[in-house]
Amino acid sequence: MDFRNCYEDDAYAAAYEKLEFPGTYYLAFRDLPGLFSRHAQGRRALDFGCGAGRSTRFLTRHGFDAIGVDISPAMVSRAQSTHPQGDYRLVADGELRQFAEESFDLILSAFTFDNVPTRDKKLALFTQLHRVLRPNGRLINLVSSPEIYWHEWASFSTKDFPRNRQARCGDPVEIINTALTDPRACVDILWPDDAYRDVYAAAGLRVLDVHRPLGRPDEPCAWVSETTTPPWTIYVLARDAAGSA
Ligand SMILES: C[S@@+](CC[C@H](N)C(=O)[O-])C[C@H]1O[C@@H](n2cnc3c(N)ncnc32)[C@H](O)[C@@H]1O
Repeated sequence: MDFRNCYEDDAYAAAYEKLEFPGTYYLAFRDLPGLFSRHAQGRRALDFGCGAGRSTRFLTRHGFDAIGVDISPAMVSRAQSTHPQGDYRLVADGELRQFAEESFDLILSAFTFDNVPTRDKKLALFTQLHRVLRPNGRLINLVSSPEIYWHEWASFSTKDFPRNRQARCGDPVEIINTALTDPRACVDILWPDDAYRDVYAAAGLRVLDVHRPLGRPDEPCAWVSETTTPPWTIYVLARDAAGSA
């Protein structure tokens, strides 16, 4: 199976542009405002891997002065046309030098690291994010839990990919986002909790909080696995007082 960033594909970007917070995605965003209030102190935010701008618009709606960056030209142009007054920037992979050191109070990375292939690449990106985070800033890294690749969900399916269950850290895993009009599988990279913690420590980032949202029976959604298994893992990170590696 070839690994590629499916978000660089024009048709996939077009389908993603229409996506808001259906089904399982609702759980990814439901508890973010509470995490913002508990952990974020200022208003200047970076949306790292902004895609078609859904997560940047979410930050803006919650009072942040947000800039969205992404490596996919298709995604950035759709973000900008949907939200013309927003600030969306196409960046080269790992290239955040246009931003001064310590310039953001909050960095949100929503699903971006699901598609970043190796430990070295992840470490290089977290090191960049550490550099642009203010000393008392917070980095919220929202990623897929490994279990998302093993079960069925309100808006994801993995039943056609039994090989996901044998995947180890760093292996490709496939998943279909059934909320999208584009039915193609997305290839992600399996990266369990211990592997994330290892990279955070190497980048000089400290884990302050880990949130794993579960669906509630009273929510107006036909949950499948969501009430028993958290599909998403949300890390709240701060700069380690000891500094970056
Ligand atoms: C699953 S999409 C999520 C988009 C958006 N955060 C949202 O919630 O709708 C992940 C995005 O991360 C972007 N991405 C992947 N690697 C990146 C990198 N190294 N730097 C910036 N963006 C990246 C992809 O191009 C894609 O648009």
